[in-house]
Amino acid sequence: MQPINFNDQLQVLDNLELILSNDCYNQNLFKTADEIRQKYHGDGVHLRGLIEFSNYCNRSCYYCGLRKENKNPERYRLSQKEIISAALTAEELGYGTVVLQSGEDNHFTLEIIAEIVKEIKEKTDLAITLSLGERTKEEYQEWRQAGADRYLLRFETSDPQLYEKLHPVGNFQNRIDNLYWLKESGYQLGSGSLIGLPDQSVQNLADDLRLYKKLDLDMVGLGPFLMNPNTPLAGEDNGSFELTLKMLALTRIILPKAHLPATTALGTVDSKGREKALQKGANVMMPNVTPREYRANYQLYPDKICTDENPVDCSHCIPARLKTIDRFPATGPGHSLK
Ligand code: 5AD
Ligand code: FES
Repeated sequence: MQPINFNDQLQVLDNLELILSNDCYNQNLFKTADEIRQKYHGDGVHLRGLIEFSNYCNRSCYYCGLRKENKNPERYRLSQKEIISAALTAEELGYGTVVLQSGEDNHFTLEIIAEIVKEIKEKTDLAITLSLGERTKEEYQEWRQAGADRYLLRFETSDPQLYEKLHPVGNFQNRIDNLYWLKESGYQLGSGSLIGLPDQSVQNLADDLRLYKKLDLDMVGLGPFLMNPNTPLAGEDNGSFELTLKMLALTRIILPKAHLPATTALGTVDSKGREKALQKGANVMMPNVTPREYRANYQLYPDKICTDENPVDCSHCIPARLKTIDRFPATGPGHSLK
């Protein structure tokens, strides 16, 4: 097998398909990703408190349990007061950032979200990340003005045909346009994709990596596709844990400064999945701060972890997990290194 110097980013970019399809590189790949993480980010792990504030969604993504056709989850919205209170909890628990995430829910208008952002900024020192799906350019601009720092919008797959097969609402070009609008509006930008989608090829995954690079992302979230039986993808195979870790390690090498979370999906397929991710390039964790009574209904995929816990439980669990791998919670907001 052709030798590859994993410290040479260009060489890695030129050989993505080869690396993704041959496991003989794994040891070197993982070791180099961990070294690069240590060099750029140190051993502190940024904690972002996640508030899943509405599971209403306008869209019909084939993989997702929140799709509008799914009658299983009981739909909920946190009140404005409950959202602020969850943000205050995040700050008390020592997190530097709060992530406001929901389905695509137009009940939360431009004005309501702007008010929530302003109130959190007035009452706390938290950085704010929004993750509300595709909205208008005007909304992105106003929320940035109101004080939002970052936005997460995964492109899910870089293959336009696969994208359109899985997303009856929206199209690939629109997704990309939204990502550029967010960038122009001055957000630290996060995106990412699903690994192991039905009919996804190695070439598709290599293209995902090239698109992360092209978008010059500040944050990249990636996780394995996990089959949800209440969706049109019922019966399909889950994405591979190992392949997801390879994608993560490659992302670390091609975007050394990016913030990379050890995602909940990785923690769901392997009880030590998040710790393994933190040893292969990841430097962020997203403890859930949604009040416990709502969690089970934010079911993107089955067996999602932390649904029986409350915010305080996760705040004890995560530092304990970090300790087992000689890591610790980082302080401060953990803004983009760029
Ligand atoms: N498996 C794994 N991840 C999923 N997501 C949605 N449904 C699934 C699933 N079945 C991810 C999407 C979305 C993020 C919030 O959750 O990538 O962007
Ligand atoms: Fe929620 Fe471990 S992070 S219980």
